[in-house]
Parts: sequence; C-alpha cells; structure tokens
Amino acid sequence: MHKVIFDTDPGVDDAMALLFLHNHPEIDLIGITTVFGNAAIETTTRNALFLKREWGIAAPVARGEGKTYNPMRNPIDWPVMIHGHDGLGNIDVPDTIDLPLDPRPAHRFIIETVRANPGEVTLIAVGRMSNLAYALKEDPGIAGLVKQVIIMGGAFDVPGNITPAAEANIHGDPEAADAVMTAPWKVVVVGLDVTMKTVMTRKRLADLTERNGRHLKLLSGISQFYIDFYGQHVEDEGMVVHDSCACIYLVAPELFTTRPGAIRVVAGGIADGQTIQKPDARKFPPGNWDDLPSQHACIGIDAEKVMALLGETL
Ligand code: BDR
Ligand code: CA
Repeated sequence: MHKVIFDTDPGVDDAMALLFLHNHPEIDLIGITTVFGNAAIETTTRNALFLKREWGIAAPVARGEGKTYNPMRNPIDWPVMIHGHDGLGNIDVPDTIDLPLDPRPAHRFIIETVRANPGEVTLIAVGRMSNLAYALKEDPGIAGLVKQVIIMGGAFDVPGNITPAAEANIHGDPEAADAVMTAPWKVVVVGLDVTMKTVMTRKRLADLTERNGRHLKLLSGISQFYIDFYGQHVEDEGMVVHDSCACIYLVAPELFTTRPGAIRVVAGGIADGQTIQKPDARKFPPGNWDDLPSQHACIGIDAEKVMALLGETL
C-alpha cells in the first residue's frame, strides 16, 4: 500500500487526480493539503472539502498558507479561463462546506505525518510547491524520512504553458520549487514533456460516466469548461490530465522514461520559473551542480497505457 499526501490546488485536473487516488486499490490517501494556484487558497480549500464530501473521502484536509515562499513576489492572477471562477469549471460549488479542516497548517500537517510514518509517505504535489518548501524550511530533517516526492510541474525539452520558458505550477512559486528540487530527497518531476501527451476526450469521459454513475457524473460536470479550453489546444476534443499523470507514476512507473540529473529553477527575468536539468550523463561543464542531488525528470510516457489505467481506475 502506498501512503500518500496529496498537495493540490483543485482545480479541474486536480479533481480527476484526487478521484484516481481515492479509487486506486493500492493507494492509501492519508492527507490532502491545499495550495493556491488554480484559484485563491480559500477557493481551493473549499473545493477540496467539497470533493471530500461528495466522494466520501476519509483523508483530512489541511489548508496551506496561501502565500509564495518568497514574500517579495506578487500574486499571479488565477487562471479563470481554464478552471473557472470557482476553480471547478463553474458548477456552482456551495460557498461553504460543512466539514472541519485539520487544525494544522498544511506544512505542519506534512511534517507531523511524515515524522509519524518514517520512510513510508509519498508526497504528490500538483500545485505550487509552497507547502513543501515551507515544510522543508521548518523541518529540514523530513527530507530523509519521505519515501519520494512526485511533482506535476516543469517543462524540460518542450516550451512552457504560461510563458515560453515556464510551466504554471513552477512559475507560480519558483523559489519554492528550487528548494524542493535541490533538497536531499528523491524527486520525480512529471512535467509538460509527458503530460501534454495525455488527453481524456470528451467522448471517453462521457462513456466512463455512463458506466460509472454518481462520482464520474460530478467529475464530468466539472470538466466540461476545462475541455472547452483545452479542446482548442490539443488534437482530440478533450482535456490534458496533467495531475493524474503524477499519481499514475506512483503505481506504474514503468510507463514513464526518466532522466537522472540535478534540477534547478530560474527565479527572475524572462525565464522566471524555467526548470533546467543537468543530466548525469552529461559531464560538462565540470563541477557545476555536481554537489546537488540527482533527481528524475520524466521525458517519455506510454500515453495509451496511462490513459487506459486512468479510465479503469476512475
Ligand atoms: C498545472 O497547472 C494547473 O493548471 C493544473 O492543475 C496543473 O497542475 C499544469 O500546468
Ligand atoms: Ca494542479
């Protein structure tokens, strides 16, 4: 059984990833921590509670601080044209959800849960890396106690999606992402190099929903607005399932090709938020970044099998 804390900014593709984690028989979802990104922290937290209630998820929800790791950064506008004003495709989520939040802030929840389960917890982070960076700052010792960190974010050999250099999750808090990539724990980065190849068509989602009732009905309702947006940018009329890819890596890493090497994140200037890897296979320039941990960037994916596993599990 994989013990997972899901750090998320729901978010339409986040919602799909959450249902995957909830449904998968080898995953024990032990916590949901919220971060700003697809919407403000109040909204993403409300959405996490909403999905928890609708899908009967047992894991507690802990709210993030709602601010970037570098306090000098200005907040970036929420991508309402992709995820809607409510972050869940404008489905009229109720303003308040009558469920309690975990009393701890997200980063403290992460620290205490990791310390209570040494060597067992996988962190899957699919929003800004702020909570993970705050957790590391407060308790650097957790790096040696986490099983692995799987991130949806970044773009290595392909252009970004928010600027030509940067992917949205990294661009929204680059200093946090740099702290996470350079910490002494195992990080697997599932970025746009692979996620852009994973498309759930409107038709496939409709077929799954027909077979599978209430849970997928909600997910399908949430996803229509996002499909309207992504449908213009991908070949089939459908949605890119970015965040689900990070969750699928956990249970089926053999469907991905990874490249080892130190990873850093640019902070500032026209390449703000760009992820750069120095592959281990490349010895030049000598000395640079050789003292940093070697992390894993996903550069290949068996998209057909990934989408099949996603469909079956949902
Ligand atoms: C990432 O940004 C968000 O819009 C998505 O939820 C995903 O985590 C893709 O760049
Ligand atoms: Ca996300």
